[in-house]
Amino acid sequence: MDMTSKQTPSILLTGGTGFIGSHIAVEVARAGLRPVLYDNLCNSKRSVVERLGSIIGRPVDFVQGDIRDGDLMRRTLREHHVSAVIHLAGLKAVGESVQQPLAYWDNNVVGTLRMLEAMNDCGVRSLVFSSSATVYGEPQRLPITESHPLSATSPYGQTKLAIEHMLRDLSVSDERWHLCLLRYFNPVGAHESGQIGEDPNGIPNNLMPFVLKVAAGQFRELSVWGGDYPTPDGTGVRDYIHVVDLAAGHVAAVQRLDGMRCEAINLGTGRGTSVLELVGAFERVNGVKVPHVMKDRRPGDVTSCFADPSLALQRLGWRTQRTVEDMCRDAWRWQNASAARTSPD
Ligand code: NAD
Ligand code: UFG
Repeated sequence: MDMTSKQTPSILLTGGTGFIGSHIAVEVARAGLRPVLYDNLCNSKRSVVERLGSIIGRPVDFVQGDIRDGDLMRRTLREHHVSAVIHLAGLKAVGESVQQPLAYWDNNVVGTLRMLEAMNDCGVRSLVFSSSATVYGEPQRLPITESHPLSATSPYGQTKLAIEHMLRDLSVSDERWHLCLLRYFNPVGAHESGQIGEDPNGIPNNLMPFVLKVAAGQFRELSVWGGDYPTPDGTGVRDYIHVVDLAAGHVAAVQRLDGMRCEAINLGTGRGTSVLELVGAFERVNGVKVPHVMKDRRPGDVTSCFADPSLALQRLGWRTQRTVEDMCRDAWRWQNASAARTSPD
């Protein structure tokens, strides 16, 4: 089949030039499907499109647009013969969402609403949604299964919960919809080519991007937010998942959408790793130092959070393949490759 033809059914990736979307594009293409990226570039760069083309080995279709633009969505869905949507577009900074709640409700919730209307108009009713472990709020039991009670501790989390509810209502109303809500734990790492990865604006909030900047000498030291948690070494525990494993989970979900009405599925490794364990692994596999100092707990942080990923294995036939060491190695390769690209010589 000629995968470059616009007649070939395609998978639309909203937020496709972002961190996770760009990795999904590679896995979608590897699975023999045609990715079409749709992004307003509010938190990513157009240069990702060319780099994806070089990883995949052929040009990738890109539409610059906003998910709230219903007309452009409808045109894109029709012109590219879209058969399913992977919906990643959204704002994701927890702290910023507290400062600008309306921007988050507008972009994430209204944006999803407009996109669903456009999909319905075009008869495209298959969707994989980027949800988050944030919908579990403060964990009441570990590991976290999909039946764990849902709550939100930030406007960002509220928007994810609201979208999950919207999708459930839609599913009840019309059995032609096929919906999968993927709840990610902590995605980190980068593609092994070093060509795509996470590129946050300004000072990173998340652990791995900050570790990278410290290892690269751009910041003096890492602040470890809290050394007095009831965990083996006193630091917070999370379920870090390699972004390429996460991407493969989306392809598995797209391929099984026909058998689903509306299902929520965790994507995680099932293993908890503490801040100090992650820093130690990073230093060991990359042979670099990550100076760090213990600080007070960061407000709003939970002690431990990790997935029970057994439903993903059962429903999607998917499990993670990559280790924390792989995550550290691939993230560092990406950091060095992007530093080399931006250096003047
Ligand atoms: P990202 O910011 O790198 O990617 C999101 C992309 O969406 C960006 O390229 C941005 O330009 C685009 N976008 C935002 N609003 C848009 C709009 N209105 N119209 C069109 N494009 C728009 O973030 P990411 O880490 O790749 O996250 C992707 C999705 O996964 C998000 O929905 C996020 O909430 C969710 N998620 C991420 C994490 C994480 O830790 N990275 C964890 C759980 C869930
Ligand atoms: N941490 C530090 N120093 C830093 C940054 C983080 O010690 O500079 C610690 C945190 O205290 C926490 C762990 O590293 O113990 C992970 O923190 P991240 O900020 O990387 O990730 P979170 O688990 O806090 O949050 C992430 C996403 C949220 C999402 C949540 C649940 O950023 O959007 O997972 O899925 F809601």
